[in-house]
Amino acid sequence: MVDVCLNFRTSSKMFTITFIILVGISSIFVEAQRPDIVDEILPEVKQKNQIGYLNCTVVNKGSESVVQWSKVETVNGGNPILLSEDDKIVYQGNTGINEDSGLRKYDMQSRINGRRVTYMLVIRYLAEEDAGDYLCTIRIQGVQWPEWPKKIGKLTVQIAPQIQPSINSIYEKDIGSSLQLTCESHGNPYPNITWKREDGQELPMGGFQSRGATLNLTDIQRNDRGNYICVADNNVKPPDSFKVEVIVFFQPSCRPVQSTVGQAQNRRFNAKLECIVAGYPQPSMKWMKETENGKLIEIDDDDKYDITKQFSSQLQNDEFWYTLLVKNVQAKDYTNYHCVGTNKYGDGEITIALFETMECQGSNCPSPGGAGAGTQIQASVFTVLLFGLVSLLVL
Ligand SMILES: *[C@@H]1O[C@H](CO)[C@@H](O)[C@H](O)[C@H]1NC(C)=O
Ligand SMILES: *[C@@H]1O[C@H](CO)[C@@H](O)[C@H](O)[C@H]1NC(C)=O
Ligand SMILES: *[C@@H]1O[C@H](CO)[C@@H](O)[C@H](O)[C@H]1NC(C)=O
Repeated sequence: MVDVCLNFRTSSKMFTITFIILVGISSIFVEAQRPDIVDEILPEVKQKNQIGYLNCTVVNKGSESVVQWSKVETVNGGNPILLSEDDKIVYQGNTGINEDSGLRKYDMQSRINGRRVTYMLVIRYLAEEDAGDYLCTIRIQGVQWPEWPKKIGKLTVQIAPQIQPSINSIYEKDIGSSLQLTCESHGNPYPNITWKREDGQELPMGGFQSRGATLNLTDIQRNDRGNYICVADNNVKPPDSFKVEVIVFFQPSCRPVQSTVGQAQNRRFNAKLECIVAGYPQPSMKWMKETENGKLIEIDDDDKYDITKQFSSQLQNDEFWYTLLVKNVQAKDYTNYHCVGTNKYGDGEITIALFETMECQGSNCPSPGGAGAGTQIQASVFTVLLFGLVSLLVL
């Protein structure tokens, strides 16, 4: 009884071992027969006009199978375009051979490495439409299409940002109005857009940068005038930028450089009155003098007065610096002078008082002790000239 049992156990063990060996052999045999795609196809990320490479690595490829690369189309009902069969490119696209380089759009390079064969699809002159999925398939004779080994390779074509040039580049707005600036841009990946001021100043809504394609300016004020820049960046060089100029219309306003100016009378001294006028459009400007009876008379540029417009880097946008030189100050000149700026939005006005002093005021006064600074400068200029003349003669 024990013997029988033992025998039975031994034979069942034998059977199991034989079975495992058989299954093992047959599975190796099947493996060896069946071509397959090994490894994932690494996604390829390249910039426009560069070359993309997609590798499909295959094992056990026999003569009865063909490795195909095709491009998966999202348009056209999604029918893939067959690009290659084994080592041969079977499609060259619409572009064909590139005129400049003589190279083709597509190329196939295969490399054998032991049991593995890599079919590298080369895609040149990358354009936006080249981006997408590429399908590697092993077509096996006598096997139905759904059973063919397949893998997808993804190609990303990066595009540097481009801002649509259609947007306005100059806006003229009234005080208190609103304006929405938009910066439409394109690129892959979709760019980050930021708005900032060209002069680096703070934005009207606060902060030095605003993220997003739109910049809302509300209740526009004088100081909102200036250049605004939108920058589109997606880390694909170069970033793109666009400049918008915002002009703000406003009524003139005036401010004196000094609201009172003193000068001594009757000694051929001049008095300089200075006024800064702001406004857009640029205001016309006039100087007025108050007469004894309180009437205002406009001052002309003549023997008595010099009216000039000055330039200064200290001026802000839409500011203009005017001076009135009252020559040879006399008793009748001591009064108020009005600086008046006018544009179609209205007037701005301030007064500057000219008052009497005992001593000469200002930088053009003769220095105490006789010889004025002017005389000294003249003397030294004369010396230099004389020296130059002598050197010339000697040479
Ligand atoms: C494809 O294979 C080639 C050569 O084997 C290699 O140089 C390249 O880096 C591979 N490219 C990708 C995207 O895997
Ligand atoms: C700007 O204003 C528009 C319309 O008023 C609004 O739709 C948009 O969200 C605003 N954008 C920002 C960044 O505030
Ligand atoms: C946009 O900005 C964010 C935050 O700075 C960053 O993480 C992202 O990579 C940027 N996107 C692009 C396309 O550059």
